[in-house]
Formats: sequence, C-alpha cells, structure tokens
Amino acid sequence: MSTTAGVRPLKTAPVPERGNGISLRGVSVHLPTADGELQILRNVTIDVPAGKIVALAGESGSGKSTAMLAMVRLLPWGARVGGELVVGPHEVTAMDAGRMRGFRASYARVVFQDPWSALHAMHSIGSQLVESARSADPGLSKAAARELAVAMLSRVGIPDPEARMRSYPHQVSGGQLQRIVIAMALVAKPQVLLCDEPTTALDVTTQEQILELLRELNVEMGLTIVIATHDLDVIDGLADHLVVMYGGTVMEQGPMKQVMGNPQHPYTWSLLQAQPKRQGKGRLLTIPGRPPALDDLPPGCAFAPRCASAAPECSDAVPRLLAPHLPDHRTACIRVQQASTPAAAQKGTP
Ligand SMILES: Nc1ncnc2c1ncn2[C@@H]1O[C@H](COP(=O)(O)OP(=O)(O)OP(=O)(O)O)[C@@H](O)[C@H]1O
Ligand SMILES: [Mg+2]
Repeated sequence: MSTTAGVRPLKTAPVPERGNGISLRGVSVHLPTADGELQILRNVTIDVPAGKIVALAGESGSGKSTAMLAMVRLLPWGARVGGELVVGPHEVTAMDAGRMRGFRASYARVVFQDPWSALHAMHSIGSQLVESARSADPGLSKAAARELAVAMLSRVGIPDPEARMRSYPHQVSGGQLQRIVIAMALVAKPQVLLCDEPTTALDVTTQEQILELLRELNVEMGLTIVIATHDLDVIDGLADHLVVMYGGTVMEQGPMKQVMGNPQHPYTWSLLQAQPKRQGKGRLLTIPGRPPALDDLPPGCAFAPRCASAAPECSDAVPRLLAPHLPDHRTACIRVQQASTPAAAQKGTP
C-alpha cells in the first residue's frame, strides 16, 4: 500500500491510539533574567483530556505560551521547571535531550503564530515537508515521505500540492503558509498539536478556515490540540475545554461550554465581558487596571486588586484550584469556594 493511500482516506481511517492526554501538576517555571531568576509560572495545574481541543486563554503575559512550551520543554536556556509534567505516556521532565528531540519531532508538534518563523526561506516547501516527515520517522524513504507530504498538503487544503512542493515560502500567502506549517507538523503523525496563537497573524476569514481545519483534524485523527489565545471569540465553539490563566497561574478551567456559559471566577467573567462579540456597538468594555508584574505579584489572589468582588481575605493566601460545585469545573477563587451553591457563587461575580 502506498503511503499516500495510507494517509488520504483520513475520514475512514480508524482513530489512532490516543495516549493519555496532558497533565500538569503544580508546575512552576523560573527563567533567568539580567536581574536574577523570574518566576513565570506558579503551581500550574492543567488537565487536557486525550483527543480533545483545549484552549489556554488569558491576557498578554498571563503565561499561556510558557505553559504550552513547557509541555515540550521549548523554554529559554537556563529555564528551571518544577512539578509534574506528563504528555501522553511521556514524563517530560525526566527525558534526556536526545529523547526530548525525538518526542518533539514525532509525538508533540508546535505550530507558532508566525508561519514564516517555522519555515526556512531558502528551502523549497517540499524539501521541508520531507525533512519533517523523516525527522519523525528516519526509516521513511524519501519517496514515501514525498508522497506523504503531497497527501498532507492536499488534506490541509492546498490547491495543486505537487506544484506547491516546488514553491518557496515567499511565493505563498500567510494563510496558505500556516496550512503548510500545519501539514509540516502532520507529516510527523503526532498525537499532540500545540498551537500558539495560530491565527493571530491572519485575516478573519482565513482565521476561521484554519480553526475549522484544526477541528476536522482533531476529529479525523484523534489529535489532542492545545491552542493558546488571548481572544476567547476565536475558540468559542471550537475548544472542548477551557483553561483561563492570569499572573502565571490557572484561575479557572473546565468544559468550554460550562465555563463560557457559567463563568465562576471574576477574572473569567471580566475577560468574557471584554470580548468584542459580547459588546454592543459603540461600547468597549475593558478590564480595569493592568495585569500584575510577575516580579511584583500582589499577596494572595493575583487578580484581587482588579476584582470588583474582592474581599480583604482574598489577599491572605493564594486560592487553590478547586471544584466546589461542578465536577471538572475548577476555580481558584475563595469567594466562589465560600459560596455554598452555584447560584450564590454567581452573585459573587461582578
Ligand atoms: N525569556 C524570558 N525572559 C524573561 N521573561 C519572560 C521570558 N519569556 C516570557 N517572559 C515573561 O513571562 C510572562 C509570561 O509570558 P508568556 O509569553 O508565557 O505570556 P502569554 O500569555 O503567552 O502572553 P501573550 O498573549 O503576549 O503571548 C510575561 O510577563 C513575559 O514578559
Ligand atoms: Mg503567548
């Protein structure tokens, strides 16, 4: 059977082994800076069920990219990672550099915001796809890798993929290039796709098409997908699970519809209110104040200084991420945890 024949009928192919999802438990990340170490992530706990789409959302600087890149240890030199980090069957913090490279080449692939940064300007698209496939499976012949590359280009919606194989990145539009970058990840047949603001650089129509493509790939291939975005509108209706981050930690997480429809944490509530789609014409609500500097976090809940529901005790201790009312829907807010019913908790939101 040719490689192409093995790849093209994705819709009818059995869903591959899905592994065990992604689990971060009490993860911390410290990065070296000119002024000493800076703690970027603190006590991050995230559960990504296998085969699901999970969104990491939050304002700029909340730690979305760092959390995502920690999952594949793509952090700056000198980074110190603590806690438990498991991706599928792999204990990420325990892998040596060689195994880590293999893991990043084949098991968990990253798609960045800027497709230009993922491609070499001087190499043809085809040669980069072939190299990507063979880095994941060194036993693959060049011909088989080429066939796989053409099939994947076709699958991600690139017209005339044979001709496109001979093109160079500068000959292709941004939207097409992002599809090519996704194809470059898919030729490695990964279980996990980590997408950091994958559509931010694209126009609205192209954005929607790329997100639709990610959903299709999730369904067809059983891919676990993590998407970091500052724009909740982008992942509304796409993600299965939502993780809301602030000040380098997780404020709330749970099934997407549940969190969007019934946000428990005042920060999530504010973030949703600030989404353009939720606002009427002429009104532009923003969250008052600014996110905290990571080297100068307020005591207790990092959001308390901006929170309309804050009480003095919010500054006493960092709230734990708990599920007081609904299974799988966890919130790091003592006001919510104090409230005895979901209705009472709702009253606590501004
Ligand atoms: N190499 C680094 N050295 C020092 N600080 C860093 C480094 N990388 C990130 N940071 C800081 O860590 C914090 C979290 O950054 P991160 O990029 O993870 O946030 P983000 O939520 O992805 O933001 P954005 O929406 O802007 O992409 C920010 O305050 C950032 O300035
Ligand atoms: Mg980021």
